Amino acid sequence: MPKSAQPNTQQAALWNDASGKAWVEMQPILDEILAPFERLVVNAGYPGEGGNVLDIGCGAGATTLAMARRVGDGHCVGLDISQPLVALATERARVEGVANASFEGGDAQAYAFESGRFDAVVSRFGVMFFDDPVAAFANVRQAARRGGKLAFAAWRSPAENDFMTTAARAAAPFLPPAPVPDPDAPGQFAFADGAKVKRILEASGWSSIEVERADVPCRIAEGDLMTYVTRLGPVGAALREVDRATAEKITAVLPTAFAPFVKHGEAHFNAACWLVTALA
Ligand SMILES: C[S@@+](CC[C@H](N)C(=O)[O-])C[C@H]1O[C@@H](n2cnc3c(N)ncnc32)[C@H](O)[C@@H]1O
Repeated sequence: MPKSAQPNTQQAALWNDASGKAWVEMQPILDEILAPFERLVVNAGYPGEGGNVLDIGCGAGATTLAMARRVGDGHCVGLDISQPLVALATERARVEGVANASFEGGDAQAYAFESGRFDAVVSRFGVMFFDDPVAAFANVRQAARRGGKLAFAAWRSPAENDFMTTAARAAAPFLPPAPVPDPDAPGQFAFADGAKVKRILEASGWSSIEVERADVPCRIAEGDLMTYVTRLGPVGAALREVDRATAEKITAVLPTAFAPFVKHGEAHFNAACWLVTALA
């Protein structure tokens, strides 16, 4: 992707429009699916009672709120480039009465963090969208105090995440050929290569880097499954663009494609991910 004077303009546009709106609408379903990662990331990044934590790409704020509850007298700031998601997260903190969580809109790659402000930096799938990951992780590192923790979850490869790629495979016969994906382009699978993730963190000054496989069983209610697969990801995007006849053909094949995952009213799948930890 060409670098522009202002970074992440394409991702900012997506997350402030179609992707962000879809994540706002799907927040309860997404939080249900991703709940195991909330626990994984909070446990890995927990800085201790009273700690000050930053949640990068916090989305609708589930992980920020969970960390804020965990740190007691401490505080958790959620930062996100998407204004609709920051607004939803702020409202959730108010409704749920989590006074030690707050949310800020901004790009983690360029945000002017106060140096050494945080005891820990965490993220649940919010760090794979940078034009320049080394610049972004260097910027985030200077926001952490010396020795502060980093802990985030990121997806491994599409080949290892068949649930995540089933919709695109099923829809492919009805869509123009998709361009060969650039493994380095910002997106869900940008951190699929664990060795690359380690190089990014080394180059941005983090130490004690661990990139561990995390295979996490996830579930979604069968009644939510078609909503999920037709609103998010490449098929969600395609369905917003295609004509009605094509959309009907795609939505007709999706239930059969996902049938192997469904049992007793729920779809179950393995989320093949990395749990990445490091120290500032
Ligand atoms: C896959 S969603 C994950 C959201 C949230 N962490 C969760 O688990 O529900 C990725 C999030 O990263 C945010 N994001 C993308 N690029 C960003 C950037 N450069 N700075 C801050 N947030 C960013 C998006 O707006 C989106 O909310």
